[in-house]
Parts: sequence; structure tokens; C-alpha cells
Amino acid sequence: MKILLTGGTGYIGSHTAIELMLSGYEVVLVDNLRNSKASVIDRIQEVSGKRPSFYELDVADYTALNTVFKQERPDAVIHFAGLKAVGESVADPLLYYQLNLNTSINLCRVMNDNNVTGLVFSSSATVYGEPERIPLDEDCDATRAANPYGRTKIMVEQILRDLCNAKPAFNVALLRYFNPAGAHPSARLGEDPTGVPNNLVPFLTQVAVGMRNELVVNGDDYPTEDGTCIRDYIHVQDLARGHVAAIRKLEKNCGLVTYNLGTGKGHSVKEVVAAFERATNQHLPKTIGPRREGDVPTTYTDPSLAERELEWKAELTIEDICRDAWQWQDANPTGYP
Ligand code: UD1
Repeated sequence: MKILLTGGTGYIGSHTAIELMLSGYEVVLVDNLRNSKASVIDRIQEVSGKRPSFYELDVADYTALNTVFKQERPDAVIHFAGLKAVGESVADPLLYYQLNLNTSINLCRVMNDNNVTGLVFSSSATVYGEPERIPLDEDCDATRAANPYGRTKIMVEQILRDLCNAKPAFNVALLRYFNPAGAHPSARLGEDPTGVPNNLVPFLTQVAVGMRNELVVNGDDYPTEDGTCIRDYIHVQDLARGHVAAIRKLEKNCGLVTYNLGTGKGHSVKEVVAAFERATNQHLPKTIGPRREGDVPTTYTDPSLAERELEWKAELTIEDICRDAWQWQDANPTGYP
């Protein structure tokens, strides 16, 4: 079986490529390298012992993508490619709608024209917006995202539902990730954000390595035990295994399926900082700042549907996340070469 990964040199794509190859799949990566570097491919080879094929192209370019499909004849696709910065999506919504929707629609056209009917889509827990109930299960209202980035995820999910209704040969898994974090335990792959990190864990590792002066905790007056927001942090290695499980699910002709991928456990910002300080054995400079617009106090998943139907479960803890994220940043202070 050959799996094509769009956004294959990105953070989650690269970790998933390794897990797929270690599970016996052939892997083809496509990426325009807008938010990732080609040296990732050397690292994938180093860790897995195999070099995936790689094509530098825009998923929105029908001719280029179609040529790769004709040449490689993939059996299924995992669609990671897309923009994902919430703040940027508020400032430039047209960019987000154009890019995230065009790439997805074009990919589906190319798949359809080449009779490739298995697709795993990188969705996000962001589709739930302000949670209807906690823990979040897949039946919760998934149309409440509070920003353009999140609304592109809602729209692509809807496009894929409509496609499955029109063309029953398609098998599609919508994976709604909670908060991906951590790095490969080899410290050869990890998260390499461009500019100031938006997310908590990469910000922490950059403070610890001396790239940033201090962590600003975004508000400690939320209705939670210690006043800081609670999230469900999932190790990128668990997430990568979740994609392998989803590919296996497609092989059983599942139609359209939707799974939350998270641990089912919530950790507050203060708990994550404490776990990180234990893992790195250092005290981090931090201050309490104002709330960040759009943050909800608490969100975590009910992971039982994925456990039952994918036979997959997150195994790594917040300690593992902090240790691996730190080892990656410490060994690669400026990210990939
Ligand atoms: C964010 C995105 C979400 C995306 C997810 C994973 C928002 C509103 N949501 O989720 O759409 O799917 O990342 O990429 O941006 N924090 C600090 N100081 C910092 C950074 C973060 O206190 O310097 C806090 C945040 O306020 C939040 C928690 O840490 O309470 C987690 O933040 P983050 O890692 O950005 O994840 P989310 O906001 O949950």
C-alpha cells in the first residue's frame, strides 16, 4: 500500500510518514515547503531507514498534482497541507479560505479523476468552538469555530461529507486533533514554527533554549482550579499512530467516519509549565498576562469512539510531551537546517 501525504514535510506529516513506513507502507510526500524545510526528508530517512519520495508542489495546482498521481499511483491520501495560524486567519481571512479550500477541493478532484477514494483529513477540535459539553464527543455541534481558520476546517469537513454522499466509493476519515505537541523521541524531528510560536509548548521550549525572554500566561482568572485554561495535549507520536489506524479503517470500506484524537485528560497551563520545568530541570521566567481573545476555559475529548473503532488510544503523557519537545529543541536550537 502506498500513501500520499500532502503537507508531508510538516510537523504532523513528517512524524506520520515515519510511523507509516515502520508499519510497512510506502510513502509519497508532497509539500510546497511554505512552512517546512526539505531537510526534514533527510531526518525521516535517518530515523526510519527509508527515504520517501518527495515532490515540491502546490496541492492547488491540478496539473502538477495529477502528474504525481499518474506516476506514483497512491492507494490513499492523508491531507495535512493547510495554513493553521488562528491570528493570521483573522487578519487575512481570504488567504485562509482561498488556500485551505482550494487545496482540498483540488485534491479531491485529482483523487476522483484517478480513482483514489481513501482520504484521511486533518481536522481540528477547533470546529467545536466554545464546547457544548465537556468532555467533547463527536456528536457535539462541530460548526461553532470562532475564527476563519476553524471555519475552513468546518467547510472542508462539509465538502467531504457531500463528496461521500455523491460518490459512495469514497472512504473518508475526519480526524479532529486536540492539542498536538511533543517531538520524535530521537530528537531528530519536532515542531519548527516560523516566527513567534502561537502555541504553548513550542513557546516554552523557546524560552528554555533562550530564544524568548519569558512565558506570558494568558490569564489566570478562568473558572478552573488554578485559574488557567485546560487543554488536551496529545503527543505527536500518538497522533502519528492514530493516522496509521485511520488508514487501516479506510481499508475496511468505512464510508465517512469522524474521530476526536486526544488523550481524554485536561491539563492547565500552570500544570504544563510545571511538567516542563520538571522535565528540563530548570526554572522558567514567566508572568501572568491578560486573557487571549478567543480562548475557552476548558476543552478535552471523550476518546472512547476512537478507542473502540480505531483500536487506538493515546499512550504518552504530558511528561513525555515535555521531555521530547525539550530534547528536540535542545538538540536543534534553531530548528531544521
Ligand atoms: C490553538 C488554536 C487551535 C489550534 C491549536 C493547535 C487558538 C484560539 N486556537 O489551540 O485552533 O487547533 O492551537 O495548533 O489559537 N498560552 C499561554 N501563553 C502562550 C501560549 C499559549 O498562556 O504563550 C495558553 C493559551 O492561552 C491556551 C493554552 O496555553 O490557554 C494552549 O494554547 P495553544 O497551544 O495556543 O492551543 P489552543 O489555544 O488550545
